[in-house]
Amino acid sequence: MHRGSLTFSRIMIRRYKCMITRIVIILTVCGLISFLILFDTVGTGDETEPNLTPDKLKKLLDEANAENTWRSLTIDKTCERYNLGIYKNSNENHSPFKHPPAPQYSVLYIDKIHNLSYCPIYKAGSTTWLYNLCLLMNVSENDLTSSKEQISTVARRVLPELEIPDAEQALKTTSKLLVVRHPFERLLSAYRDKLENSVAGREHGTLHFYQKYGEKIVKKYRDKNFPTPRTDQFIQRRGVPGPAGIEPTWREFVEYLINTDLANYGDDHWMPYYLFCTPCLVKYDIVAKVETLWRDQIFAIHKLGLQKKIKPRWRHSGGHSNASKIYFNQLSRDTVRRLYEKFKLDFELFDYSHDEYYKYAMQEEF
Ligand SMILES: *[C@@H]1O[C@H](CO)[C@@H](O)[C@H](O)[C@H]1NC(C)=O
Ligand SMILES: *[C@@H]1O[C@H](CO)[C@@H](O)[C@H](O)[C@H]1NC(C)=O
Ligand SMILES: *[C@@H]1O[C@H](CO)[C@@H](O)[C@H](O)[C@H]1NC(C)=O
Repeated sequence: MHRGSLTFSRIMIRRYKCMITRIVIILTVCGLISFLILFDTVGTGDETEPNLTPDKLKKLLDEANAENTWRSLTIDKTCERYNLGIYKNSNENHSPFKHPPAPQYSVLYIDKIHNLSYCPIYKAGSTTWLYNLCLLMNVSENDLTSSKEQISTVARRVLPELEIPDAEQALKTTSKLLVVRHPFERLLSAYRDKLENSVAGREHGTLHFYQKYGEKIVKKYRDKNFPTPRTDQFIQRRGVPGPAGIEPTWREFVEYLINTDLANYGDDHWMPYYLFCTPCLVKYDIVAKVETLWRDQIFAIHKLGLQKKIKPRWRHSGGHSNASKIYFNQLSRDTVRRLYEKFKLDFELFDYSHDEYYKYAMQEEF
């Protein structure tokens, strides 16, 4: 009996050990699975493609194609209506808009090998597409992610500017891609990135922008009643020092935009699309929008026949969902209307509305 009970307790210990081992194994597996799931969504989820069945892909491409045709027609009609560029009617050569006589060849990235010309608009998906162009030119992903240089610099090195007769010829044969974004969102994004804070983001040239534009804007447009924004009037980025108080406010920047001849004295970062990418002179085959970037990217890649070479990439803009509300609330309705007038042609060419922004604006006038 003594022996028996010893054997019994040995068996119990063995079973107990067995159970513990099992629990440990189960916990380890669970932990590993949740780690993998977490890692996938946090680490690489940004760029993984949602699974598209062939049916869904076809539907997506049809939809994007129909929309692209509509966008091209809207551009045609708008250029025609205002008598601009290649749509100019020789009998009647006045237009309310000053328009350049030729495209700005120097801003385009022309890839003759892959039959693609791209007009990069800052803060409108340009990082994604310049990245794609570099990949097409065999710059390795590793080099691109570890590089300290701006992506536009790397892209310019592998796709140098073409001289005019060459560029002109290449524009005739290549597929032309343009990515736009709501004009007000792009202006706000450029302001927040380049002018709002001269202390943070110096690696993106904020000090240079302060010296070149910010200081002058403040000198000319500083409103004594609103010298610096209240803390609830700008979005403080996490982990960076706040603005120094010498930078132009959003209101001042908007006044500057309204009162400046942007064709001659502006900057590429806030030049109207019609002046920068000249869609009334260059017939873009693909007109993508940031608002539908995921779909439009897939469409562009297929239309360009590059499915085997590049994958759609998804990068979070990191934008604040209420940014336009917070900033446009600092403008009067009349200011929003004047800013709209300044960028009206872009709104019409690319079918955007400013209604919502008008609603965000202050009700009362100053
Ligand atoms: C680019 O377009 C030209 C003319 O349309 C054509 O001959 C050539 O095969 C195309 N190249 C590629 C890589 O698609
Ligand atoms: C990139 O590499 C591929 C494979 O090695 C080669 O076929 C292609 O010609 C290269 N493209 C360029 C632009 O150098
Ligand atoms: C945006 O505004 C809404 C309503 O004013 C508010 O409920 C929400 O928390 C705000 N979101 C952020 C990210 O601040």
